[in-house]
Amino acid sequence: MKLLRRGSRSPIDLSTKVFGVEVVSPILSASGTSGYGAELAAFFDLSSIGAIVVKSLAHFAHGGNKAPRVGALSTGMINSVGLPGPGVRAWIQRYLPFLIEHRAKVVVSIWGRTQSDYAQAAQELEEVSEALTALEINVSCPNTERAGEMFGHDPRETKQIVEAVSAVTSLPIALKLSPNTDRYLEVACAAIEGGANTIVAANTYLGYAHEKGGTRSILGSDGGGVSGAGIRPVSLRIVRELRHALPDCDIVGVGGIYSAKDAVSYLLEGASAVEVGTASFFDPRSISKIQEDLKTMITRSGVGTLAEYLERLRAS
Ligand SMILES: Cc1cc2nc3c(=O)[nH]c(=O)nc-3n(C[C@H](O)[C@H](O)[C@H](O)COP(=O)(O)O)c2cc1C
Repeated sequence: MKLLRRGSRSPIDLSTKVFGVEVVSPILSASGTSGYGAELAAFFDLSSIGAIVVKSLAHFAHGGNKAPRVGALSTGMINSVGLPGPGVRAWIQRYLPFLIEHRAKVVVSIWGRTQSDYAQAAQELEEVSEALTALEINVSCPNTERAGEMFGHDPRETKQIVEAVSAVTSLPIALKLSPNTDRYLEVACAAIEGGANTIVAANTYLGYAHEKGGTRSILGSDGGGVSGAGIRPVSLRIVRELRHALPDCDIVGVGGIYSAKDAVSYLLEGASAVEVGTASFFDPRSISKIQEDLKTMITRSGVGTLAEYLERLRAS
């Protein structure tokens, strides 16, 4: 059921521009936290949200890390899933038709171990570009050609990856930042220079946790990435800094969004849209609930659009 404005018949307009295109809502799923979308379709209409950002895909199939791959923390969770996936071509055959059938806006996250891996993944996705909204480049993986340092910690490497992807894709490009470097602003600027039009801030924070009451890692593979409520203020600060440094690019906020109020914090600090990750593990309806609660907040304020609502909050 569409939520109507008080005293009017028009539904609340949540539309926003992100990846350089208009989407129906600023609420998106975060890569890796709801597979390829099918899990969420049991709980809400996939076409009602801004976009489904699918789990990062490489051009090759990959098995991922040793179990246990996720652990609960009082502030959210820690994971070392290790980017398992069927590879781009198998994904196109096995999983994309479902998303098309459900009229979802699809953003594909890509990863690789070398610069050319990224370009190959983008090239293979070009064959189905009409069915996709954007590519999100995940640079939080080690560069196997250069001492295993994360691509996303080096502005030059990041720019080269974005340029290589840009050369073979017709899709808008978003760069997902690693927050585990003090050079994230430089990295974001390099990505824009390379051809990205959107910055996604941010991926998980490197961490380590012991199993409950024990002395060993909670994960099968030593440390992992921390996500959830505890990282919200840290990612929010990155979004705020990015907005000041890059006034014209689209920014997607991600990190610890559990409620419509959390989403509004990011939107107020300059995010054009937000992605919801860990919250979906606690409740697979989270994305839809956050979106419905946002509509309710807008209705109660007496305006009809997200843009007017944010304007009103900024003026208050
Ligand atoms: C289990 C799990 C798997 C993830 N896999 C990916 C992934 O494949 N690609 C990616 O870019 N980010 C991945 N992320 C990071 C999320 O997309 C998101 O950036 C991060 O979890 C912070 O948001 P949150 O606090 O809402 O979860 C993963 C996170 C979790 C918890």
